[in-house]
Amino acid sequence: MGIEWILKRRSIRKYTDEIISPETVRSLLEAGMAAPSARNVQPWHFIVVTDRHQLNALADAHPYGGMLAHAPLAIAVAGDITSSGAYWIQDCSAATENILLAASALGLGAVWLGVTPREDRIRAVDSVLSVPDGFQTLCVISLGYPAEEKEARTQYREDRIHQNSW
Ligand SMILES: Cc1cc2nc3c(=O)[nH]c(=O)nc-3n(C[C@H](O)[C@H](O)[C@H](O)COP(=O)(O)O)c2cc1C
Repeated sequence: MGIEWILKRRSIRKYTDEIISPETVRSLLEAGMAAPSARNVQPWHFIVVTDRHQLNALADAHPYGGMLAHAPLAIAVAGDITSSGAYWIQDCSAATENILLAASALGLGAVWLGVTPREDRIRAVDSVLSVPDGFQTLCVISLGYPAEEKEARTQYREDRIHQNSW
Protein backbone atom coordinates (compact mmCIF):
# COMPACT_ATOMS: atom_id res chain seq x y z
CA MET A 1 0.00 0.00 0.00
CA GLY A 2 1.30 3.48 -0.89
CA ILE A 3 0.88 6.68 1.10
CA GLU A 4 -1.68 8.35 -1.21
CA TRP A 5 -4.44 7.71 1.35
CA ILE A 6 -2.43 9.71 3.91
CA LEU A 7 -1.93 12.62 1.48
CA LYS A 8 -5.70 12.56 0.88
CA ARG A 9 -6.48 13.55 4.50
CA ARG A 10 -7.48 17.23 4.58
CA SER A 11 -9.36 19.35 7.09
CA ILE A 12 -13.03 19.24 6.06
CA ARG A 13 -15.32 21.78 7.71
CA LYS A 14 -18.55 21.41 5.64
CA TYR A 15 -20.78 18.36 5.91
CA THR A 16 -23.95 16.88 4.47
CA ASP A 17 -26.88 15.95 6.76
CA GLU A 18 -26.11 12.24 6.44
CA ILE A 19 -25.87 10.45 9.79
CA ILE A 20 -22.76 8.40 10.59
CA SER A 21 -23.65 4.81 11.48
CA PRO A 22 -22.74 3.28 14.86
CA GLU A 23 -20.53 0.75 13.03
CA THR A 24 -18.54 3.58 11.43
CA VAL A 25 -18.23 5.37 14.79
CA ARG A 26 -16.95 2.10 16.27
CA SER A 27 -14.30 1.88 13.50
CA LEU A 28 -13.17 5.45 14.22
CA LEU A 29 -12.81 4.66 17.92
CA GLU A 30 -10.97 1.43 17.19
CA ALA A 31 -8.55 3.39 15.01
CA GLY A 32 -8.02 5.90 17.82
CA MET A 33 -7.31 3.17 20.34
CA ALA A 34 -4.80 1.53 17.96
CA ALA A 35 -2.43 4.49 18.42
CA PRO A 36 0.96 4.10 20.06
CA SER A 37 1.23 5.36 23.65
CA ALA A 38 4.15 5.70 26.05
CA ARG A 39 4.50 2.48 28.06
CA ASN A 40 1.21 1.58 26.37
CA VAL A 41 -0.66 3.39 29.14
CA GLN A 42 -3.50 4.39 26.73
CA PRO A 43 -4.52 7.48 28.72
CA TRP A 44 -7.28 8.42 26.25
CA HIS A 45 -11.02 8.77 26.66
CA PHE A 46 -13.35 9.51 23.76
CA ILE A 47 -16.56 11.50 24.20
CA VAL A 48 -18.87 10.71 21.29
CA VAL A 49 -21.25 13.61 20.73
CA THR A 50 -24.32 13.23 18.51
CA ASP A 51 -26.85 15.20 20.56
CA ARG A 52 -27.71 18.40 18.67
CA HIS A 53 -27.82 20.54 21.83
CA GLN A 54 -24.38 19.30 22.87
CA LEU A 55 -22.97 19.89 19.37
CA ASN A 56 -24.37 23.43 19.42
CA ALA A 57 -22.95 24.03 22.89
CA LEU A 58 -19.51 22.87 21.68
CA ALA A 59 -19.80 25.19 18.68
CA ASP A 60 -20.42 28.05 21.11
CA ALA A 61 -17.63 26.96 23.47
CA HIS A 62 -14.89 26.82 20.80
CA PRO A 63 -13.89 30.08 19.05
CA TYR A 64 -13.23 28.27 15.73
CA GLY A 65 -15.80 25.49 16.21
CA GLY A 66 -18.70 27.00 14.28
CA MET A 67 -18.84 23.98 11.95
CA LEU A 68 -19.92 21.79 14.89
CA ALA A 69 -23.37 23.37 14.70
CA HIS A 70 -23.72 21.69 11.28
CA ALA A 71 -21.85 18.45 12.00
CA PRO A 72 -23.65 15.16 12.77
CA LEU A 73 -20.84 13.95 15.03
CA ALA A 74 -17.99 15.15 17.20
CA ILE A 75 -15.46 13.06 19.06
CA ALA A 76 -13.65 14.83 21.88
CA VAL A 77 -10.35 13.24 22.83
CA ALA A 78 -9.56 13.65 26.54
CA GLY A 79 -6.62 12.42 28.56
CA ASP A 80 -5.95 11.16 32.08
CA ILE A 81 -3.58 13.94 33.13
CA THR A 82 -2.64 12.74 36.60
CA SER A 83 -2.07 9.00 36.52
CA SER A 84 -0.76 8.53 32.98
CA GLY A 85 2.69 10.05 33.19
CA ALA A 86 4.17 12.88 31.17
CA TYR A 87 3.04 11.83 27.71
CA TRP A 88 -0.74 12.14 27.70
CA ILE A 89 -0.69 14.94 25.10
CA GLN A 90 1.47 12.95 22.68
CA ASP A 91 -0.58 9.80 23.23
CA CYS A 92 -3.91 11.57 22.70
CA SER A 93 -2.49 13.39 19.65
CA ALA A 94 -1.51 10.05 18.11
CA ALA A 95 -5.05 8.77 18.75
CA THR A 96 -6.48 11.93 17.19
CA GLU A 97 -4.42 11.59 14.01
CA ASN A 98 -5.43 7.92 13.73
CA ILE A 99 -9.10 9.00 13.87
CA LEU A 100 -8.53 11.69 11.23
CA LEU A 101 -6.83 9.19 8.90
CA ALA A 102 -9.52 6.57 9.53
CA ALA A 103 -12.24 9.16 8.82
CA SER A 104 -10.64 10.01 5.49
CA ALA A 105 -10.24 6.31 4.59
CA LEU A 106 -13.94 5.71 5.41
CA GLY A 107 -15.07 8.57 3.14
CA LEU A 108 -15.77 11.02 5.98
CA GLY A 109 -14.54 14.58 6.40
CA ALA A 110 -13.05 15.74 9.69
CA VAL A 111 -11.10 18.53 11.34
CA TRP A 112 -9.00 18.77 14.52
CA LEU A 113 -10.16 21.62 16.77
CA GLY A 114 -7.42 22.43 19.23
CA VAL A 115 -8.37 22.79 22.92
CA THR A 116 -5.28 22.05 25.08
CA PRO A 117 -3.19 24.11 25.93
CA ARG A 118 -5.57 27.11 25.65
CA GLU A 119 -6.97 27.65 29.16
CA ASP A 120 -10.18 29.39 28.05
CA ARG A 121 -11.03 26.57 25.62
CA ILE A 122 -10.22 23.86 28.18
CA ARG A 123 -12.55 25.50 30.71
CA ALA A 124 -15.40 25.97 28.21
CA VAL A 125 -15.20 22.57 26.46
CA ASP A 126 -14.60 20.50 29.63
CA SER A 127 -17.62 22.20 31.18
CA VAL A 128 -19.93 21.37 28.23
CA LEU A 129 -18.72 17.75 28.25
CA SER A 130 -18.69 17.35 32.07
CA VAL A 131 -15.09 16.14 31.98
CA PRO A 132 -14.19 15.16 35.58
CA ASP A 133 -11.22 16.44 37.60
CA GLY A 134 -7.99 14.68 36.63
CA PHE A 135 -8.97 14.54 32.97
CA GLN A 136 -8.69 17.18 30.24
CA THR A 137 -9.82 17.59 26.64
CA LEU A 138 -6.98 17.65 24.14
CA CYS A 139 -9.15 18.44 21.12
CA VAL A 140 -12.54 18.08 19.55
CA ILE A 141 -12.79 16.33 16.17
CA SER A 142 -15.68 17.56 14.02
CA LEU A 143 -16.95 14.88 11.62
CA GLY A 144 -19.45 14.33 8.84
CA TYR A 145 -19.81 13.22 5.24
CA PRO A 146 -17.99 15.88 3.21
CA ALA A 147 -19.84 18.73 1.48
CA GLU A 148 -16.57 20.24 0.26
CA GLU A 149 -13.72 18.72 -1.70
CA LYS A 150 -10.04 19.32 -1.17
CA GLU A 151 -7.16 18.05 -3.24
CA ALA A 152 -4.75 15.47 -1.92
CA ARG A 153 -1.41 17.18 -1.68
CA THR A 154 2.17 16.74 -0.60
CA GLN A 155 3.86 19.26 1.70
CA TYR A 156 7.28 17.71 1.14
CA ARG A 157 10.08 20.25 1.70
CA GLU A 158 13.76 19.52 1.17
CA ASP A 159 14.70 22.46 3.43
CA ARG A 160 13.16 20.68 6.44
CA ILE A 161 15.37 17.64 6.04
CA HIS A 162 18.84 17.31 7.58
CA GLN A 163 21.13 14.39 6.90
CA ASN A 164 22.91 12.89 9.90
CA SER A 165 23.00 16.20 11.81
CA TRP A 166 21.36 19.64 11.44
C1 LIG B 1 -3.28 21.19 17.11
C2 LIG B 1 -4.21 21.59 15.99
C3 LIG B 1 -5.20 22.51 16.24
C4 LIG B 1 -6.09 22.91 15.22
N1 LIG B 1 -7.12 23.75 15.53
C5 LIG B 1 -8.00 24.07 14.56
C6 LIG B 1 -9.12 24.90 14.88
O1 LIG B 1 -9.30 25.34 16.02
N2 LIG B 1 -10.01 25.21 13.89
C7 LIG B 1 -9.85 24.73 12.62
O2 LIG B 1 -10.70 25.02 11.77
N3 LIG B 1 -8.79 23.94 12.27
C8 LIG B 1 -7.88 23.60 13.22
N4 LIG B 1 -6.82 22.77 12.91
C9 LIG B 1 -6.65 22.27 11.52
C10 LIG B 1 -5.53 23.02 10.77
O3 LIG B 1 -5.96 24.32 10.48
C11 LIG B 1 -5.18 22.25 9.47
O4 LIG B 1 -4.72 20.95 9.80
C12 LIG B 1 -4.10 22.94 8.64
O5 LIG B 1 -4.60 24.17 8.14
C13 LIG B 1 -3.61 22.10 7.46
O6 LIG B 1 -4.69 21.77 6.59
P1 LIG B 1 -5.07 20.22 6.29
O7 LIG B 1 -5.51 19.60 7.59
O8 LIG B 1 -6.16 20.28 5.27
O9 LIG B 1 -3.84 19.51 5.76
C14 LIG B 1 -5.94 22.37 13.91
C15 LIG B 1 -4.91 21.45 13.67
C16 LIG B 1 -4.06 21.04 14.69
C17 LIG B 1 -2.99 20.00 14.41
